[in-house]
Amino acid sequence: MKIGIYPGSFDPVTLGHLDIISRAVKVFDHLIVAVMVNPQKHCSFTAEERITLIREAVQDDNIEVVAFDGLLADYAKMRQATAIVKGLRALSDFEYEFQMALTNKKLNPMLDTLFLATSAEYMFLSSSMVKQVASFGGDISAFVPPSILQEIQERLSRRSFDGNTGNRRGLS
Ligand code: PNS
Repeated sequence: MKIGIYPGSFDPVTLGHLDIISRAVKVFDHLIVAVMVNPQKHCSFTAEERITLIREAVQDDNIEVVAFDGLLADYAKMRQATAIVKGLRALSDFEYEFQMALTNKKLNPMLDTLFLATSAEYMFLSSSMVKQVASFGGDISAFVPPSILQEIQERLSRRSFDGNTGNRRGLS
């Protein structure tokens, strides 16, 4: 069975992420969407909240949504996954993604990284942008799935964000 892992912060999941998920699941028998820790980001949603939002937006028996707070290379080994899936939006993503792909390969030589080009309509989209728009009371309905729009809006409106980074500024 071919197992792939799509890791990320998903803070929160966007239509861009869902586009990658729906395409990646066709490549593998089983796709694990892994909510992981990016030490460079301070998340606005808890891991449980992020999992819940993804599960509400994705309904496919071949897709599993999990959280893991260790090394991706270790988790892939544990789950016998053969590939990591990442979405590439622009050239600016490439250097960082390439560095991660090579590091993961070094840590787990059985593991390859498969890059999927983001669909053109989602090239601009990021979780930080969603949080920034929402923090100014803007409409995020074009950026997140309708099934979880209200939930995201309600949770974000209860919190305060740094408009530049999209990071959470204070506790609600
Ligand atoms: O959505 P993001 O924030 O770009 O995803 C980055 C993420 C979470 C996939 C990355 O930071 C990660 O793999 N974190 C787990 C810890 C780890 O394995 N770090 C080494 C990666 S080279």
